[in-house]
Parts: sequence; C-alpha cells; structure tokens
Amino acid sequence: MSSAKKTYARVTTKTLQEMKANGEKISMLTAYDYTLGGIVDKAGVDVILVGDSASNVMAGHETTLPITLDQMIYHASSVVRAAQRALVVVDLPFGTYQADSKEALRSAIRIMKESGAHAVKLEGGEQVKDSIERILQAGIPVMGHLGLTPQSIYKFGTYSVRAKEEEEAAQLLKDTKMLEEIGCFGIVLEKVPAVLAGDAASSISVPIIGIGAGNQVDGQVLVLHDMLGMNKEFSPRFLRRYLDLDQVLNDAIGQYSADVKSLNFPNDKEQY
Ligand code: KIV
Repeated sequence: MSSAKKTYARVTTKTLQEMKANGEKISMLTAYDYTLGGIVDKAGVDVILVGDSASNVMAGHETTLPITLDQMIYHASSVVRAAQRALVVVDLPFGTYQADSKEALRSAIRIMKESGAHAVKLEGGEQVKDSIERILQAGIPVMGHLGLTPQSIYKFGTYSVRAKEEEEAAQLLKDTKMLEEIGCFGIVLEKVPAVLAGDAASSISVPIIGIGAGNQVDGQVLVLHDMLGMNKEFSPRFLRRYLDLDQVLNDAIGQYSADVKSLNFPNDKEQY
C-alpha cells in the first residue's frame, strides 16, 4: 500500500474529517499577524488558529481574558490575508459568547464577516451548548475546546492538568460526544491525560487536536511563539521548542545596534 498522502489545495472542515478518517494527522499552529501567518501557511500547516493567546503573546497580558472582539478581528483579518491553504479558525474571546446564545451568534458573525475567517472556536461543554448550536444554525463552523480552558483560569485557579479525577474525566467524554453530536467539526483538547485524550479521539468521528494531550489524538496544536523559542518563561512538559528564536533575534538585533554605534552600518554599498 502506498504511503503517499493526498495534498489538499485548500483545507476545509471537510478535509479535516477526511484526514481523520484516513488516519492522517492534522497540524495546527497559532498565528496573529500577516507575516508569520504567511510563513506558517507556506510551511504546510493545515489549520491556523488565531488564538486568544494573542492576549498573552501579542499584548503581554497575564491571561487571555482581556482581549476584545475588535482586537481578535484585527489579528484574524491580518492572518486571513496571508493564508492561501490553511483553514483559519478564530477564538471567540472571553465575554462574547457566555451571556446568551444571541450574543454568541452576533460575535461569531462579526468574526466571519469582518475578518474573512473560516470558523470560530470557543471554550466549554454543556454550559455553552446553546451558543454553539445557534452559531452552527447560522452556517458558521465551530470548533470546541475542552480540558484546560484558559478563559476559566480564575475558576480553576491553576493551569495544571485537567480531568485527572474520574468525575471530570467522565464529564469530558460526555462533552466530547455532545460537541460531535451537535455538529462541531473538531475539538481542541488541552492538558489532559494522554489515555483519556486517546479514548475521546477514538470515541468520535470528528478530529481531536491536542495540546498537552499525548499522541493518540488526531492532530497537535502549539502556540507559535512558544514552539519557536521566543518565550523562555513558559516551559510546560508538552512544549517542544524547535528553535531558540529568542537567542537568534537577540544576537541579530544586538549586532545591528553595535554596528550602528561603531559606524559599521551602513557601509559604502548601503547608501545612495
Ligand atoms: O488561544 C490559543 O492559543 C489556544 C491554543 C492553546 C489551543 O486556544
């Protein structure tokens, strides 16, 4: 049997279902701007998540709570302009979908209309079911997010592994099934035991994308700046750093500054 994988011109929510059915793993990374969005897209990542982690990574907030819908739309529209192949999914920020399902729909419509993104993601299970259903009824694809849900950090009190106890694990499996049944095209599962994540992935037909959820799921997502090594302070066990970009940038920028001060830049060829 050939191991050649089908290449997709434009990744859609349907493509992701096919990939799961074919046992092909899905790659997903965050991006928040045009330049890095384009690099992630050209590198062949299947899904770009304009995550509300922009609140931490781009704006320097301690949590994801402060970022606004307008700010998410700004980041998302920059990424959409860059993405030629990847499916672009955008987080509904905290406070834009929890109050009631009509507000949730209005928020999702603004994201789709004003950024040109392809889908929205929101955190939670049973408690946000009505909101998800209303958004789906309007024809907007929705990705769920279970396990560690950073918008609820003040309820959890910690970013530690979720669903280690039986009761929470059972609820997570129930929520997973419910999200599939109401029509979510995929689910992000964050920081839960690998065995539980594997059980969740094998119990539903839509893809589960893990972050800190082991390798028995259908794909993986990381925050781009973390995997590029731009954030030395954040070192969870699940994070693999593919580059020490903090050091690379520091060296280049330090060299530039030194060159300016020593009159080494610009040289004769670098002027008019
Ligand atoms: O906002 C984000 O970056 C996310 C990922 C951690 C999945 O939701």
